[in-house]
Amino acid sequence: MFISRQLARRTSLRVSRRWSHSPAAALSGLNSVTEEDLAHFAKILPPTAILSTLSPSATPAAELEPFNNDWMNKYHGRSTTVLKPRTTQEVSEIVKWCNQRRIGIVPQGGNTGLVGGGVPVKDELVLSLSNMTKIRAFDDVSGILVADAGCILQSLSDFLTPHNHIVPLDLGAKGSCQIGGNVSTNAGGLRLLRYGSLHGSVLGLEVVLPDGTILDQLTSLRKDNTGYDLKQLFIGAEGTLGVVTGVSILAAPAPQASNNVMLALPKFENVLPLFKETKRQLSEILSAFEFMDRTVYDLAVKHGQGRALDPSDVEGAECFVLVETSGGKREHDEEKLNSLLESLMEAEQPLINTGVLATSPAQFSALWAIREGLTEAVSKEGKAYKYDISVPLHKFKEVVDKTKEHLRQKDLLHDNAVKHVVGYGHVGDGNLHLNVVAAQYTPEIEAALEPFIYELVASYKGSISAEHGIGVMKTHALQYSKSPTSIEWMKRIKALFDPNGIMNPGKVLP
Ligand code: FAD
Ligand code: MLT
Ligand code: ZN
Repeated sequence: MFISRQLARRTSLRVSRRWSHSPAAALSGLNSVTEEDLAHFAKILPPTAILSTLSPSATPAAELEPFNNDWMNKYHGRSTTVLKPRTTQEVSEIVKWCNQRRIGIVPQGGNTGLVGGGVPVKDELVLSLSNMTKIRAFDDVSGILVADAGCILQSLSDFLTPHNHIVPLDLGAKGSCQIGGNVSTNAGGLRLLRYGSLHGSVLGLEVVLPDGTILDQLTSLRKDNTGYDLKQLFIGAEGTLGVVTGVSILAAPAPQASNNVMLALPKFENVLPLFKETKRQLSEILSAFEFMDRTVYDLAVKHGQGRALDPSDVEGAECFVLVETSGGKREHDEEKLNSLLESLMEAEQPLINTGVLATSPAQFSALWAIREGLTEAVSKEGKAYKYDISVPLHKFKEVVDKTKEHLRQKDLLHDNAVKHVVGYGHVGDGNLHLNVVAAQYTPEIEAALEPFIYELVASYKGSISAEHGIGVMKTHALQYSKSPTSIEWMKRIKALFDPNGIMNPGKVLP
């Protein structure tokens, strides 16, 4: 349903008022790190765990750049100091000091976040978890894995392989992102359809609260109904309520067989009937159903992600769907997948033009590499404005088309401004990644996109963030997806945990 014109006008008025909110305002009462602070940190950490342009460390500023700039090189901080604690106790002592001294802290994992949440707004201290990489315990009967927050997702996955288990989360950034960052962003990823959200699979957390207290909720229990489930507050809090130092997560049994197939579709309208039919026929073995439009597929090919399909396979395709199955018995799964493909190809009005089925592990990986490489391809092509939205599935194409048309009307759809508007995403989760690929980030393009896109999403009763979070990018737009009452209670929770506002200031809350 579309919002009424009156409501739309009220919404945009409210937005323009909040537009003036500057994330830097959240830092107004906070102090910069001084040489005295550094002297104190030197009592907690070895010199190798302190990077600071201040004396006596005098680290060259260039060494701090990877911590001050985000993955897209869109958000830039000016921190003088990065600390890399090795234990929860060290984190606690650092945080306690910062709280007493009113120094802002940005917890940082792999710095692969896409909303500017992991880099400072100004000169807050960066607390990098990259030295906390211990796997604390794994029980191959229950599947419960307990690990330091700084463990890289891929390394957890590698650890679990010989134990016949997998992390119930997978994403293109797995080689760099950390489990603590995943939890803090409530990352969704490529197989949420199968394994559900981290709100379900994370069993416990260890968190250093803003006053330095260690909150040990690192339970390994599948069931625990003893009052409020505090850990849920930190899942998706983007570092605004505390520092996650340990994670207990329920690993899934490794599938005995995995297959995938790239389907080429003549038109977008076929995606939903295809999803329905795929679910019906594959049922319990369906583990991913990922959509990409033609333009973004072509960008992946252009920038060398994965191995391109044969020209005959992509001819006339308006979009693609990557389907993955994971099950317990290869013959059974292959039979199901083959019969799905046969029925799709032989239908009187086929939903697909063609399907490319992986027949070797190398082909399986190559097909996934196309999908996982979309983010990188888009970044290589230009400066991406990334919107990760939840909208009804049948609106995916409309969102892309309307955005394109809106930019065209503003004379911004050409090679010197916006080069492409593309859509891809997790159909199974109703999550569309709308990417506007520009030659440069410019205020003019941003003004054309926002609040236009947020209003469009609100008109579908969608969410302005399905998985990447709010970070610094969308604080001003939170009210498109949260009611004033919800925002008020979020602010109260923040004030309760972090009365001095030191934890990731300027992020999430308007
Ligand atoms: P960072 O970027 O370092 O931090 C992200 C946020 O979490 C920041 O607010 C930071 O302050 C906070 N944080 C980090 N660690 C901690 C901690 N230990 N305690 C408290 N707060 C912390 N996201 C998806 O959801 N699905 C995808 O499919 C997906 N694919 C991606 C593919 C690529 C190529 C890239 C570059 C990104 C992708 N992302 C995806 C976004 C990103 O990878 C995820 O948000 C990821 O979970 C971030 O983890 P990180 O360790 O890099 O966190
Ligand atoms: C994805 O699904 O590929 C990720 O969320 C990253 C992106 O949106 O580019
Ligand atoms: Zn995604």
